[in-house]
Amino acid sequence: MSKMPTKGLFISLEGGEGSGKSTQIKRLKSWLEALLPNREIITTREPGGTPSAEDIRALLVTGEVDSLTAKTEALLMLASRGEHVERLIVPKLADGAIILCDRFADSSYVYQSITGGYTETELRQLHHLTIGDIAPDKSFLMDLSPEEGLARAGERESQLEARFELKGLAYHQKVREGYLRIAHQEDERFDIIDASQSEDTIFETLKAVISDLLGKRGIC
Ligand code: TMP
Repeated sequence: MSKMPTKGLFISLEGGEGSGKSTQIKRLKSWLEALLPNREIITTREPGGTPSAEDIRALLVTGEVDSLTAKTEALLMLASRGEHVERLIVPKLADGAIILCDRFADSSYVYQSITGGYTETELRQLHHLTIGDIAPDKSFLMDLSPEEGLARAGERESQLEARFELKGLAYHQKVREGYLRIAHQEDERFDIIDASQSEDTIFETLKAVISDLLGKRGIC
């Protein structure tokens, strides 16, 4: 649960490469816009989400796999998130928007703790200094084997943003394990979705959980 009192709702989708987050976010946006015509529904992503955060994203996701040290990579992720939170997420939540975010801080706890630049505890401390205690109200982990996810990601038309995909299967296996560990640790906030199911089945599951949440929050 977000510790900041907000009028909006902050939902994140997490998961490895090719796990179908962006497809589901697009479908959820259309559904929510029809359901709640008077509410702003925002889809956004990390790294990115504001012009300056998108500039930082370009440094992170393009280029050679070892173009950044592990610490630089982590600090750039946090810098991008700081911009995103301060300039978009906090003001929009205060206005009552529903935010669907493709990745948030959990991505950093998982991905950046693997390469050894900072431990997960240090990353949590850095986050506290950068964005305070803001957290999604609800998070979904799209769980998929890295073999399947990387194969799906490899079929994308543009391969320009492939720096993380190039980190290899063993790295992405650790990503999957890291996510499952965090999702179990924070099982009130997280729902784990089997992302090998059909797009329609996953969409129905996400809608059911979000409908329930909207009801509990008195949003609809
Ligand atoms: P995307 O392809 O899902 O947009 O994300 C770009 C890559 O950035 C993806 O491979 C995961 C990685 N990433 C991190 O390593 N740490 C983070 O905090 C975030 C938000 C993304």
